Amino acid sequence: MNKPYKIAVIPGDGTGPEVIREGLKVLKAASEKFDFEYKEEPFDFGGARYLKTGKTITDRELSSLKKFDAIYLGAIGHPDVKPGILEQGILLKIRFGLDQYINLRPVKLYNSDFCPLKDKRPEDIDFVVVRENSEGLYKGLGSFKNKGGKNEVAIQVSHNTRKGVERCIRYAFEYCRKRNKKKKLTLSGKTNVLTYAWDLWQRTFDSVKKEFPDIQTDYAHVDATTMWFVKNPEWFDCIVTDNMFGDIITDLGAMIQGGMGIAAGGNINPKGVSMFEPIGGSAPKYTGKNVINPLAAICALSMLLDNLGESKAASAVENSVIKVVNTDLKSLAAGRMGYSTEEVGNLVVENL
Ligand code: IPM
Ligand code: MN
Repeated sequence: MNKPYKIAVIPGDGTGPEVIREGLKVLKAASEKFDFEYKEEPFDFGGARYLKTGKTITDRELSSLKKFDAIYLGAIGHPDVKPGILEQGILLKIRFGLDQYINLRPVKLYNSDFCPLKDKRPEDIDFVVVRENSEGLYKGLGSFKNKGGKNEVAIQVSHNTRKGVERCIRYAFEYCRKRNKKKKLTLSGKTNVLTYAWDLWQRTFDSVKKEFPDIQTDYAHVDATTMWFVKNPEWFDCIVTDNMFGDIITDLGAMIQGGMGIAAGGNINPKGVSMFEPIGGSAPKYTGKNVINPLAAICALSMLLDNLGESKAASAVENSVIKVVNTDLKSLAAGRMGYSTEEVGNLVVENL
């Protein structure tokens, strides 16, 4: 028997705990069916703890996360905490601190009934966005001049390093090769305006692509990318982009795959500890009502299992989600699924 996987669980704020509970139920069922062992350890990082103690996540706590095989995160964000504190103090601190330099966001439609686009089928919407997750505008660099004054200037810098850009682009090429679908990688940027940052991205892309002659490459400006997401999503296979653009286009991606109820992502350090999360946030207005859709968290669990090397369990979980989405649910939206959060979790377990 292999050593049990060590999984850090951060349920977090709002509906996070409700969806993570369902994910953990599915994890338990998958471990029994696919014969692996794991130990979960809960962490109470989040808005409630911050309001009580003033602590987001300490350096010591951050470093204690390094001993895990994976992190499973619900959501971070609390209506009583000023925007930015928890996001920077917890979520971004973990992403940066554990050098999770890739944010992997699959955009996959499981049932055309849940797609807001006319006449798009599951085979038309099946791509992955590889978002750089450690640099760019998220680096927090900038300054105010004459703060509060009439001539105030606020500067926010996009910081891109050759090393950071190159490792992200190389990961995207490798991922595209391994995914083995259309074998096409699109660089999505803004070379026509952001002539420093995107010059570096374009040059790096052009040099790395020489190592991947089997991958077809393409470039689209990020604004045009959003247009194609709606008009011709079937053109895409893998997309690589920077942190800010990736943040924006993956919310649109989530919508065309059926909404925040189904969209999952992974914060990946290919050689370290990765963290998996539903990308929808804490949804305060649905908290505690047992109406939120847990499938995004369950899809995040499937990504986590794949990352651990439990690829059979990962596909079984995904296939069970596909079954539930196609046979049971009336909608993927909170409160309109026709089932409670808990019942949807049970359905996934039953179909596993
Ligand atoms: C996401 C979120 C975060 C981001 C926020 C909560 C800081 O929107 O994971 O996409 O901007 O990366
Ligand atoms: Mn976002």
